[in-house]
Amino acid sequence: MKILPYLPDRSGLAYSVGTTLDRFIKLKQSDFPFASGELSQLLRDIALAAKIVNRETNRAGLSNIGGAFGQVNVQGEEQQKLDVIANIRFMRALSKGGEVCAIVSEEEDSVIDLQNSSGKYVVAIDPLDGSSNIDVNISIGTIFSIYRRITPAGSPIQQEDIMQKGSEQVAAGYVLYGSSTMLVYTTGCGVNGFTYEQSLGEFFLSHPDIRAPKSGEIYSVNEGSQLDWEAGIKNYITLCKERRYSARYIGSLVADFHRNLLKGGIYLYPATKKNPSGKLRLLYEANALALIAEQAGAMATDGSRRILDIKPTSLHQRTPLLIGSSEMVQEAEAILKGEDVKSLI
Ligand code: AHG
Ligand code: MN
Ligand code: MN
Repeated sequence: MKILPYLPDRSGLAYSVGTTLDRFIKLKQSDFPFASGELSQLLRDIALAAKIVNRETNRAGLSNIGGAFGQVNVQGEEQQKLDVIANIRFMRALSKGGEVCAIVSEEEDSVIDLQNSSGKYVVAIDPLDGSSNIDVNISIGTIFSIYRRITPAGSPIQQEDIMQKGSEQVAAGYVLYGSSTMLVYTTGCGVNGFTYEQSLGEFFLSHPDIRAPKSGEIYSVNEGSQLDWEAGIKNYITLCKERRYSARYIGSLVADFHRNLLKGGIYLYPATKKNPSGKLRLLYEANALALIAEQAGAMATDGSRRILDIKPTSLHQRTPLLIGSSEMVQEAEAILKGEDVKSLI
Protein backbone atom coordinates (compact mmCIF):
# COMPACT_ATOMS: atom_id res chain seq x y z
CA MET A 1 0.00 0.00 0.00
CA LYS A 2 1.30 3.42 -0.98
CA ILE A 3 0.75 6.26 1.48
CA LEU A 4 1.01 9.79 0.12
CA PRO A 5 1.47 12.84 2.32
CA TYR A 6 -1.13 15.60 1.90
CA LEU A 7 0.58 18.58 0.26
CA PRO A 8 -1.92 21.42 0.34
CA ASP A 9 0.53 24.08 -0.84
CA ARG A 10 3.36 23.10 -3.16
CA SER A 11 4.73 26.64 -3.43
CA GLY A 12 6.76 26.22 -0.27
CA LEU A 13 5.35 29.49 1.08
CA ALA A 14 3.66 29.55 4.45
CA TYR A 15 0.84 31.46 2.76
CA SER A 16 -0.54 31.33 -0.76
CA VAL A 17 -3.50 32.51 -2.78
CA GLY A 18 -6.61 31.52 -0.88
CA THR A 19 -5.14 32.09 2.59
CA THR A 20 -7.67 33.92 4.75
CA LEU A 21 -6.82 37.43 5.89
CA ASP A 22 -6.91 36.32 9.53
CA ARG A 23 -4.41 33.54 8.95
CA PHE A 24 -2.21 35.77 6.82
CA ILE A 25 -2.12 38.48 9.52
CA LYS A 26 -1.16 35.85 12.07
CA LEU A 27 1.56 34.35 9.85
CA LYS A 28 3.00 37.77 9.07
CA GLN A 29 2.85 39.11 12.60
CA SER A 30 6.57 38.67 13.16
CA ASP A 31 7.24 41.09 10.25
CA PHE A 32 5.72 43.96 12.21
CA PRO A 33 8.03 46.43 13.84
CA PHE A 34 6.35 45.71 17.20
CA ALA A 35 5.16 42.11 17.11
CA SER A 36 2.85 42.33 20.10
CA GLY A 37 -0.32 41.22 18.36
CA GLU A 38 -2.07 44.56 18.88
CA LEU A 39 -1.45 45.76 15.33
CA SER A 40 -2.76 42.40 14.10
CA GLN A 41 -5.94 42.93 16.07
CA LEU A 42 -6.24 46.48 14.77
CA LEU A 43 -6.05 45.21 11.18
CA ARG A 44 -8.74 42.68 11.97
CA ASP A 45 -10.93 45.45 13.42
CA ILE A 46 -10.54 47.44 10.21
CA ALA A 47 -11.40 44.37 8.13
CA LEU A 48 -14.56 43.84 10.19
CA ALA A 49 -15.68 47.45 9.69
CA ALA A 50 -14.91 47.09 5.97
CA LYS A 51 -17.23 44.09 5.78
CA ILE A 52 -20.01 46.10 7.40
CA VAL A 53 -19.47 49.09 5.10
CA ASN A 54 -19.41 46.68 2.17
CA ARG A 55 -22.83 45.39 3.26
CA GLU A 56 -24.21 48.93 3.57
CA THR A 57 -22.74 49.86 0.17
CA ASN A 58 -24.36 46.89 -1.51
CA ARG A 59 -27.72 47.80 0.00
CA ALA A 60 -27.42 51.50 -0.84
CA GLY A 61 -29.87 51.43 -3.74
CA LEU A 62 -32.57 49.66 -1.71
CA SER A 63 -32.36 50.98 1.81
CA ASN A 64 -32.62 54.75 1.37
CA ILE A 65 -29.06 55.40 2.51
CA GLY A 66 -28.06 57.08 -0.73
CA GLY A 67 -28.00 60.84 -1.15
CA ALA A 68 -26.94 63.76 0.98
CA PHE A 69 -26.92 63.66 4.77
CA GLY A 70 -27.76 67.36 5.02
CA GLN A 71 -24.54 68.67 6.55
CA VAL A 72 -21.15 69.79 5.31
CA ASN A 73 -17.92 68.46 6.77
CA VAL A 74 -14.92 70.49 7.87
CA GLN A 75 -13.70 70.56 4.26
CA GLY A 76 -16.90 72.37 3.25
CA GLU A 77 -18.03 69.29 1.31
CA GLU A 78 -21.57 68.01 1.50
CA GLN A 79 -21.61 64.78 3.50
CA GLN A 80 -23.40 61.84 1.96
CA LYS A 81 -25.36 59.48 4.20
CA LEU A 82 -22.89 56.72 3.46
CA ASP A 83 -19.97 59.01 4.45
CA VAL A 84 -21.56 59.35 7.86
CA ILE A 85 -22.45 55.65 8.15
CA ALA A 86 -18.94 54.56 7.18
CA ASN A 87 -17.42 57.01 9.64
CA ILE A 88 -19.58 55.63 12.47
CA ARG A 89 -18.73 52.01 11.57
CA PHE A 90 -14.98 52.58 11.52
CA MET A 91 -15.10 54.72 14.69
CA ARG A 92 -16.95 51.94 16.51
CA ALA A 93 -14.62 49.20 15.29
CA LEU A 94 -11.52 51.17 16.21
CA SER A 95 -12.79 52.30 19.59
CA LYS A 96 -13.95 48.84 20.72
CA GLY A 97 -10.67 47.09 19.99
CA GLY A 98 -8.63 49.02 22.58
CA GLU A 99 -5.48 49.27 20.45
CA VAL A 100 -6.17 52.79 19.20
CA CYS A 101 -5.91 55.97 21.29
CA ALA A 102 -6.85 58.60 18.70
CA ILE A 103 -8.47 58.88 15.27
CA VAL A 104 -8.22 61.53 12.57
CA SER A 105 -11.13 61.26 10.14
CA GLU A 106 -12.13 63.25 7.09
CA GLU A 107 -15.58 63.48 8.61
CA GLU A 108 -14.51 64.88 12.00
CA ASP A 109 -13.32 68.47 12.53
CA SER A 110 -10.95 67.56 15.36
CA VAL A 111 -8.87 64.62 16.50
CA ILE A 112 -11.08 62.09 18.25
CA ASP A 113 -9.52 61.08 21.56
CA LEU A 114 -10.89 57.61 22.28
CA GLN A 115 -10.20 58.09 26.02
CA ASN A 116 -8.15 54.96 25.83
CA SER A 117 -4.73 56.26 26.70
CA SER A 118 -3.29 52.75 26.89
CA GLY A 119 -3.87 52.36 23.14
CA LYS A 120 -0.57 52.48 21.26
CA TYR A 121 -1.84 53.40 17.81
CA VAL A 122 -3.20 56.45 16.01
CA VAL A 123 -5.36 55.94 12.92
CA ALA A 124 -6.04 58.46 10.15
CA ILE A 125 -8.96 57.49 7.94
CA ASP A 126 -11.01 58.53 4.94
CA PRO A 127 -13.99 56.30 5.76
CA LEU A 128 -15.64 56.71 2.36
CA ASP A 129 -13.56 57.86 -0.57
CA GLY A 130 -15.24 58.88 -3.82
CA SER A 131 -18.56 59.72 -2.21
CA SER A 132 -19.82 61.54 -5.32
CA ASN A 133 -19.95 58.07 -6.92
CA ILE A 134 -22.17 56.40 -4.28
CA ASP A 135 -25.49 57.29 -5.87
CA VAL A 136 -24.41 56.22 -9.35
CA ASN A 137 -23.21 52.74 -8.40
CA ILE A 138 -19.52 53.33 -9.15
CA SER A 139 -16.56 52.01 -7.14
CA ILE A 140 -15.79 53.75 -3.85
CA GLY A 141 -13.27 53.05 -1.11
CA THR A 142 -11.84 53.49 2.38
CA ILE A 143 -8.26 54.65 3.03
CA PHE A 144 -6.40 54.18 6.34
CA SER A 145 -3.03 54.99 7.89
CA ILE A 146 -1.76 53.54 11.15
CA TYR A 147 0.90 55.21 13.30
CA ARG A 148 2.44 54.21 16.58
CA ARG A 149 2.02 57.00 19.10
CA ILE A 150 5.20 58.78 20.11
CA THR A 151 4.30 59.71 23.68
CA PRO A 152 4.19 56.84 26.19
CA ALA A 153 1.01 54.76 26.44
CA GLY A 154 -0.99 55.84 29.46
CA SER A 155 -0.32 59.58 28.96
CA PRO A 156 -2.65 62.07 27.24
CA ILE A 157 -2.51 62.32 23.43
CA GLN A 158 -0.23 65.07 22.14
CA GLN A 159 0.06 66.87 18.83
CA GLU A 160 3.30 65.01 18.02
CA ASP A 161 1.40 61.70 18.15
CA ILE A 162 -0.90 62.92 15.40
CA MET A 163 1.31 65.10 13.19
CA GLN A 164 3.71 62.41 12.07
CA LYS A 165 5.28 62.17 8.64
CA GLY A 166 3.93 59.48 6.33
CA SER A 167 7.27 57.70 6.55
CA GLU A 168 6.38 56.88 10.18
CA GLN A 169 3.32 54.81 9.23
CA VAL A 170 3.53 51.27 10.60
CA ALA A 171 0.76 50.09 8.31
CA ALA A 172 -1.55 51.51 5.69
CA GLY A 173 -4.20 50.23 3.35
CA TYR A 174 -7.37 50.73 1.45
CA VAL A 175 -10.61 48.92 0.82
CA LEU A 176 -12.10 49.06 -2.66
CA TYR A 177 -15.84 48.46 -2.87
CA GLY A 178 -15.99 47.62 -6.58
CA SER A 179 -16.96 44.74 -8.83
CA SER A 180 -15.33 42.78 -6.02
CA THR A 181 -14.52 44.19 -2.62
CA MET A 182 -10.82 44.14 -1.90
CA LEU A 183 -8.62 45.02 1.04
CA VAL A 184 -5.04 45.94 0.14
CA TYR A 185 -2.53 46.69 2.87
CA THR A 186 1.11 46.92 3.81
CA THR A 187 2.97 46.75 7.08
CA GLY A 188 6.16 47.87 5.38
CA CYS A 189 7.09 44.42 4.02
CA GLY A 190 5.45 44.49 0.61
CA VAL A 191 1.82 44.86 -0.40
CA ASN A 192 -0.84 42.17 -0.39
CA GLY A 193 -4.41 42.23 -1.68
CA PHE A 194 -7.38 40.25 -0.38
CA THR A 195 -10.71 39.71 -2.12
CA TYR A 196 -13.90 39.45 -0.13
CA GLU A 197 -16.00 36.32 -0.55
CA GLN A 198 -19.50 37.49 0.30
CA SER A 199 -21.10 34.13 0.99
CA LEU A 200 -18.31 33.08 3.37
CA GLY A 201 -17.83 36.52 4.89
CA GLU A 202 -14.05 36.27 4.54
CA PHE A 203 -11.24 38.12 2.82
CA PHE A 204 -8.93 35.72 0.93
CA LEU A 205 -5.43 36.45 -0.35
CA SER A 206 -5.86 37.00 -4.08
CA HIS A 207 -3.01 39.38 -4.97
CA PRO A 208 0.15 38.33 -3.10
CA ASP A 209 3.17 40.63 -3.14
CA ILE A 210 1.79 43.25 -5.53
CA ARG A 211 4.50 44.85 -7.69
CA ALA A 212 3.56 47.91 -9.71
CA PRO A 213 4.76 48.03 -13.32
CA LYS A 214 7.64 50.53 -13.68
CA SER A 215 5.77 52.30 -16.45
CA GLY A 216 2.37 52.22 -18.09
CA GLU A 217 0.07 53.79 -20.62
CA ILE A 218 -2.72 55.19 -18.45
CA TYR A 219 -3.01 58.72 -17.08
CA SER A 220 -5.70 59.68 -14.61
CA VAL A 221 -6.50 63.35 -14.02
CA ASN A 222 -9.58 65.55 -13.96
CA GLU A 223 -9.07 67.28 -17.29
CA GLY A 224 -11.98 69.62 -16.59
CA SER A 225 -9.48 71.61 -14.51
CA GLN A 226 -6.94 71.92 -17.32
CA LEU A 227 -7.35 75.68 -17.71
CA ASP A 228 -6.31 76.06 -14.05
CA TRP A 229 -3.18 73.90 -14.24
CA GLU A 230 0.32 75.24 -14.25
CA ALA A 231 2.36 74.86 -17.45
CA GLY A 232 4.29 71.78 -16.26
CA ILE A 233 1.14 69.69 -15.76
CA LYS A 234 -0.25 70.85 -19.11
CA ASN A 235 3.03 69.82 -20.77
CA TYR A 236 3.06 66.41 -19.13
CA ILE A 237 -0.55 65.64 -20.09
CA THR A 238 0.17 66.80 -23.65
CA LEU A 239 3.06 64.35 -23.70
CA CYS A 240 0.72 61.55 -22.52
CA LYS A 241 -1.58 62.39 -25.43
CA GLU A 242 1.26 62.54 -27.95
CA ARG A 243 2.14 59.02 -26.85
CA ARG A 244 -1.50 58.00 -27.25
CA TYR A 245 -1.83 56.93 -23.63
CA SER A 246 -5.33 56.12 -22.40
CA ALA A 247 -7.16 58.56 -20.14
CA ARG A 248 -8.95 56.81 -17.27
CA TYR A 249 -10.51 58.81 -14.42
CA ILE A 250 -13.17 57.43 -12.12
CA GLY A 251 -13.21 60.21 -9.55
CA SER A 252 -12.67 57.77 -6.68
CA LEU A 253 -9.00 58.00 -5.75
CA VAL A 254 -8.90 54.43 -4.39
CA ALA A 255 -10.29 53.00 -7.63
CA ASP A 256 -8.05 55.08 -9.90
CA PHE A 257 -5.00 54.26 -7.76
CA HIS A 258 -5.79 50.54 -7.62
CA ARG A 259 -6.18 50.22 -11.39
CA ASN A 260 -2.92 52.06 -12.06
CA LEU A 261 -1.10 50.04 -9.39
CA LEU A 262 -2.00 46.80 -11.13
CA LYS A 263 -1.86 47.90 -14.76
CA GLY A 264 0.76 50.64 -14.70
CA GLY A 265 -0.16 54.31 -14.90
CA ILE A 266 -0.09 57.67 -13.17
CA TYR A 267 -2.75 59.51 -11.15
CA LEU A 268 -2.43 63.27 -10.80
CA TYR A 269 -4.36 65.70 -8.63
CA PRO A 270 -2.26 68.79 -9.12
CA ALA A 271 -2.40 72.25 -7.65
CA THR A 272 -4.82 74.53 -9.46
CA LYS A 273 -5.42 78.28 -9.32
CA LYS A 274 -8.53 77.60 -7.23
CA ASN A 275 -6.79 75.05 -4.99
CA PRO A 276 -3.07 75.86 -4.78
CA SER A 277 -2.50 72.83 -2.53
CA GLY A 278 -4.60 70.53 -4.67
CA LYS A 279 -7.62 68.80 -3.21
CA LEU A 280 -6.50 65.57 -1.60
CA ARG A 281 -5.67 65.34 2.07
CA LEU A 282 -2.20 64.41 3.26
CA LEU A 283 -3.06 62.58 6.47
CA TYR A 284 -5.80 60.25 5.34
CA GLU A 285 -5.56 60.05 1.54
CA ALA A 286 -2.06 60.74 0.18
CA ASN A 287 0.11 59.18 2.92
CA ALA A 288 -1.49 55.74 2.97
CA LEU A 289 -1.46 55.39 -0.80
CA ALA A 290 2.11 56.74 -0.96
CA LEU A 291 3.31 54.02 1.43
CA ILE A 292 1.53 51.34 -0.57
CA ALA A 293 2.92 52.78 -3.82
CA GLU A 294 6.48 52.73 -2.53
CA GLN A 295 6.12 49.27 -1.05
CA ALA A 296 4.96 48.05 -4.47
CA GLY A 297 7.86 49.76 -6.25
CA ALA A 298 5.85 52.79 -7.41
CA MET A 299 6.24 56.45 -6.34
CA ALA A 300 4.32 59.35 -4.84
CA THR A 301 5.29 63.02 -4.86
CA ASP A 302 3.67 66.44 -4.55
CA GLY A 303 5.57 67.53 -7.65
CA SER A 304 8.86 68.21 -5.91
CA ARG A 305 8.83 66.36 -2.58
CA ARG A 306 8.33 62.74 -1.63
CA ILE A 307 4.86 62.59 -0.06
CA LEU A 308 6.11 60.47 2.86
CA ASP A 309 8.66 63.19 3.81
CA ILE A 310 6.10 65.98 4.25
CA LYS A 311 5.74 67.05 7.88
CA PRO A 312 2.05 67.80 8.47
CA THR A 313 1.16 71.15 9.96
CA SER A 314 -2.60 70.79 10.12
CA LEU A 315 -5.10 67.99 10.41
CA HIS A 316 -6.94 68.38 7.13
CA GLN A 317 -3.94 69.65 5.17
CA ARG A 318 -4.15 69.22 1.42
CA THR A 319 -1.38 68.26 -0.95
CA PRO A 320 -0.93 68.01 -4.69
CA LEU A 321 -0.46 64.34 -5.57
CA LEU A 322 1.33 62.58 -8.42
CA ILE A 323 1.29 58.85 -7.76
CA GLY A 324 1.86 55.67 -9.73
CA SER A 325 4.44 53.88 -11.85
CA SER A 326 7.91 55.10 -10.89
CA GLU A 327 9.18 56.05 -14.34
CA MET A 328 6.00 58.00 -15.10
CA VAL A 329 6.08 59.91 -11.81
CA GLN A 330 9.78 60.70 -12.25
CA GLU A 331 9.15 61.99 -15.74
CA ALA A 332 6.17 64.11 -14.68
CA GLU A 333 8.25 65.55 -11.85
CA ALA A 334 11.10 66.38 -14.24
CA ILE A 335 8.70 68.18 -16.56
CA LEU A 336 7.21 70.11 -13.64
CA LYS A 337 10.72 71.25 -12.77
CA GLY A 338 11.01 72.65 -16.30
CA GLU A 339 13.32 70.03 -17.76
CA ASP A 340 13.21 69.65 -21.53
CA VAL A 341 10.33 67.32 -22.46
CA LYS A 342 11.84 66.27 -25.79
CA SER A 343 15.04 65.06 -24.19
CA LEU A 344 12.94 62.76 -21.99
CA ILE A 345 11.08 61.02 -24.79
P1 AHG B 1 -13.85 62.11 -0.88
O1 AHG B 1 -15.06 61.48 -1.50
O2 AHG B 1 -13.27 61.31 0.25
O3 AHG B 1 -14.08 63.56 -0.50
O4 AHG B 1 -12.67 62.10 -1.95
C1 AHG B 1 -12.93 62.56 -3.25
C2 AHG B 1 -11.61 62.76 -3.91
C3 AHG B 1 -11.00 61.53 -4.57
O5 AHG B 1 -11.56 60.32 -4.26
C4 AHG B 1 -11.17 61.80 -6.04
O6 AHG B 1 -10.10 61.26 -6.78
C5 AHG B 1 -11.24 63.27 -6.12
O7 AHG B 1 -11.78 63.72 -4.93
C6 AHG B 1 -12.08 63.72 -7.27
O8 AHG B 1 -12.10 65.09 -7.29
P2 AHG B 1 -12.63 65.90 -8.58
O9 AHG B 1 -14.11 65.67 -8.64
O10 AHG B 1 -12.26 67.31 -8.31
O11 AHG B 1 -11.91 65.34 -9.78
MN1 MN C 1 -11.30 60.78 -0.31
MN1 MN D 1 -14.22 60.63 2.02
